[in-house]
Amino acid sequence: MSNARTEASYSRLQHGDALENLLHEDRKFAPSAGFAANAVVGAGVYAEAEADRPAFWARQARLLLDWDTDFGQALDWSEPPFAKWFVGGRVNAAYNALDRHVENGLGDRVAIFFEGEPGDTRTYTYAQLTEEVKKCANAFESLGVAKGDRVAVYLPMIPEAVITMLACARIGAVHSVVFGGFSADALRSRIDDAQARLVVTADGTYRRGKPSPLKPAVDQALTAPGHSVEHVVVVRRNGQDVDWVQGRDRWWEDTVGAASAEHTAVGHDAEHPLFILYTSGTTGKPKGILHTTGGYLTQTAYTHRAVFDLHPETDVFWCTADVGWVTGHSYVAYAPLVNGATQVMYEGTPDSPHQGRWWEIVQKYKVSILYTAPTAIRTFMKWGREIPGRYDLSSIRVLGSVGEPINPEAWMWYREVIGANAGNHGEKKEDPAPIVDTWWQTETGAQMIAPLPGVTATKPGSAQVPLPGIAIDVVDEAGASVPDGHGGYLVVREPWPAMLRGIWGDPERFKETYWSRFEGMYFAGDGAKKDEDGDIWLLGRVDDVMNVSGHRLSTTEIESALVSHPWVAEAAVVGASDETTGQAVVAFVILRESAPSGQDSGDATVTELRNHVGKEIGPIAKPRHILVVPELPKTRSGKIMRRLLQDVAEGREPGDATTLSDPTIMAQIAESLATRN
Ligand code: WTA
Repeated sequence: MSNARTEASYSRLQHGDALENLLHEDRKFAPSAGFAANAVVGAGVYAEAEADRPAFWARQARLLLDWDTDFGQALDWSEPPFAKWFVGGRVNAAYNALDRHVENGLGDRVAIFFEGEPGDTRTYTYAQLTEEVKKCANAFESLGVAKGDRVAVYLPMIPEAVITMLACARIGAVHSVVFGGFSADALRSRIDDAQARLVVTADGTYRRGKPSPLKPAVDQALTAPGHSVEHVVVVRRNGQDVDWVQGRDRWWEDTVGAASAEHTAVGHDAEHPLFILYTSGTTGKPKGILHTTGGYLTQTAYTHRAVFDLHPETDVFWCTADVGWVTGHSYVAYAPLVNGATQVMYEGTPDSPHQGRWWEIVQKYKVSILYTAPTAIRTFMKWGREIPGRYDLSSIRVLGSVGEPINPEAWMWYREVIGANAGNHGEKKEDPAPIVDTWWQTETGAQMIAPLPGVTATKPGSAQVPLPGIAIDVVDEAGASVPDGHGGYLVVREPWPAMLRGIWGDPERFKETYWSRFEGMYFAGDGAKKDEDGDIWLLGRVDDVMNVSGHRLSTTEIESALVSHPWVAEAAVVGASDETTGQAVVAFVILRESAPSGQDSGDATVTELRNHVGKEIGPIAKPRHILVVPELPKTRSGKIMRRLLQDVAEGREPGDATTLSDPTIMAQIAESLATRN
């Protein structure tokens, strides 16, 4: 990432006048005495972790996981930024998520309540899920998948996604889950980069009451000669007809269904790769974030227990994230199962078949811990409080938020409408459920900043405090810690167990992206501020990453997609603030001579370009608006000044344009947009 760009965004964060007012918050909600008394962690944990971080994590690793071989050194940081945690330990993720619970007499506990979009349901106990994963592990091995091989997973939110991930972990294969909303082209580039041998997919899924296909994208991704894929296993989900490649494709039911349910898990090295997950960065090409086994499992399980105050015997946990994103990895596929919890998994959208679907699910399964994204909360706000008001949400005792900053207004709504609902006749709880706003990233693997619900007095809009054992700071340009009341860049000062171990196949890019901005610190790419109490407020990205509905998208990646279209000469993409989705993608394009011209061509061109982005990346990346402009604002060194475009996209007078090579450009853009409308 260019520092110039970072600096520009940073100064915007610093001088944004609205921010100062926004970040002043006097409201605080201390945990009730009852909640605090029963909480799984107490206030002493901070000092305990502070005394010796690696020793703290080593204790958690031994408490939370069963190791085949105990480890020696907790942390080897002799070759930064390449960390090794729990050196020499051997551990199997699937055994820890499954078999051991059955061995401990918990085989009949429900692991997953699955709710399909059309209303079909399935319940898996720990014993049943263990059996399915064993069969799946045998099936994958019979297809030639061995330890270290990569498996691409392109599945909807159905139990087979979790079964596949755990089966890979069991045999030491490395899963690479690709979100089902990504296009065939995006899938192909991820399969190629990881050189996957096997793809697991489904005929399709259901979206807003209609079947929606998945396998055609896999077929299309595999049309290129010389790809690495030997087999495609297909789950029958929506019953739609699919094309079939003999020898390559096989049905899940014939393969996994027919496999033996006997399978012994062996421990893998603590640093054995567990998965790769591609995420958008500041360049056009998504990065394959690599996570390994021991540290990742330790921190995901610890945070799941401490931050959600998990009581696995009684709680019902529901994380609404798709397994295609990191939240679905850490807090659907791994942590809840490692902790022996009962969880809900839902396939569909919040408004199918009606806008009360989520609350109906909460009521039905008595969900006690709900973990979701601010964009969903803002959508529910828009739909109105009467809808959740019709359901009994009294089972809820902890609410989590993740993925983007939660504005105080949405925070308060979440607390009052969801967290204080004590029945469907308007009854209110005296002690609303605490809200835990959790900051973390694909790269961090697990939560890093969050209140502890039985300890911290929570504050609307702030993620507040680093978790025990995590060394977070906010620093200025020179890397010096800023005092309370000031803003800067969010960094992590010490290695943490679930940290990424690198970028798949590109160690240099790993160093360059995260470790070169500040000496000896991990640079997260987020702006942040410490308030007067020292609580941390996240201010959004300071790089070219956008956050749309809690999904990470790269401006550069969308720009590359746009300029790959023959009509487009140049493109600049910005994330414009949006009330519901946090940010919305807005693209400015300069067309080539070859593009259709004339009175009626505008809408058709925009539609064509939006669809092109959908094809190149996926529907989630389609720009909300595409504005055709005669020129783009550039500095004398040729850098596009996105800050000015952002002003335009957000309907403001453009800011200081004196560094532009041609200062009249903003006027030209304004004029062209005015004549177009
Ligand atoms: C943003 C999602 C504010 C942030 C787990 C980060 C947040 C990026 C929060 C990572 C939060 C995530 N408050 N911002 N609680 N949680 N973010 O990799 O900008 O999809 O860098 O991981 O989301 O997105 P990712």
